Amino acid sequence: MQALSQLSYTPTANPKLYTGPPSRTIRVATRAVSAPRHVMIRPAPVRNLSVPLPDPARPSPPDLAHRVILVTGATGGLGEPLARECAAQGATVVLHGRHLPRLEALYDAIVADGHAEPVILPLDFAKAEAADFGNVASALESQFKRLDGIVHAAAMLGTLGPIEQQSFDAWLALLRVNLAAPMGLTRSLAPLLAKAPDAAVVFTLDDRGIAPRAYWGGYGVTKAGVAALARELADEWESRPNLRVNAVVPGPIRSPLRGRTHPGEDRARLPEPARLVPLYLHLLAGQTKAESAALIEARAWLDGGESSRPLVA
Ligand SMILES: NC(=O)c1ccc[n+]([C@@H]2O[C@H](COP(=O)([O-])OP(=O)(O)OC[C@H]3O[C@@H](n4cnc5c(N)ncnc54)[C@H](OP(=O)(O)O)[C@@H]3O)[C@@H](O)[C@H]2O)c1
Repeated sequence: MQALSQLSYTPTANPKLYTGPPSRTIRVATRAVSAPRHVMIRPAPVRNLSVPLPDPARPSPPDLAHRVILVTGATGGLGEPLARECAAQGATVVLHGRHLPRLEALYDAIVADGHAEPVILPLDFAKAEAADFGNVASALESQFKRLDGIVHAAAMLGTLGPIEQQSFDAWLALLRVNLAAPMGLTRSLAPLLAKAPDAAVVFTLDDRGIAPRAYWGGYGVTKAGVAALARELADEWESRPNLRVNAVVPGPIRSPLRGRTHPGEDRARLPEPARLVPLYLHLLAGQTKAESAALIEARAWLDGGESSRPLVA
């Protein structure tokens, strides 16, 4: 396998890249007489605040036949039911994780269920280099010639506690796993996604990245970074009709990660991660371009409340 060379970048006249003159100029009428001056400030156009989402009580999963979907953290609490359901709906799933035996067990389970044969991608994001992500792209290109979606679900929690007690090296690992890896994968796989008729990238955020709080350390900071990454990408792909970007804030779910952050809580009160799967499937293949670039609070979605807002303000 050969590594992709760096994506070349040529500055263009794209106004989004520059902090040029403001797009709306407010004209103040000046007169020789001292009449009162009226400044008309027109409100910015209001974007539709919510997008159609499936009914969590009666989801009808989209057909994923012929689609190739990469799920990172496919051995995790959220990633596993998502990967299984993608396969159940017809997708060929690229199962990413760190531990080969766990990936093999998931592979066997999907094959035993009679679904399309998945592929496994063992890669420790804490050690991954740019060339590794390039190799992933080369391998997918040669094996499938397509990629229709990425769900970024892998995450490392690290140690929670005061900043002064946090290890610098542990932060670097968090930055690599939670932030650099989603960027490196998306960047390397973007040319393949661009060839698909309808491709989707779904980032998984956390409340602690949206509203950082004490003691959440590098996890909260890297999740804030992923939110920024999702916003940048959604803005960059705004006029790419076949490329959609969304971000999901899962809220508390009954997963191993939650067990580590809240060891004393009653886990029976938390939703199973599988309940979020229909939302992810919808974002992978049931959504139109016009409905994309949304940030979705899964807890509010499950509760039937207002749950989405634009990713890009
Ligand atoms: N659980 C919650 O309540 C909650 C709340 C808000 C947001 N989230 C977000 O939801 C997503 C899924 O979380 P989860 O609850 O499913 O977590 P989880 O059960 O801990 O799963 C995390 C996944 O990330 C993988 N991973 C960890 N370190 C890695 C590394 N160095 N390289 C590659 N992969 C690595 C794990 O692989 P291994 O199997 O090899 O360890 C596992 O597959 C995450 O993005 C998380 O931030 C979760």
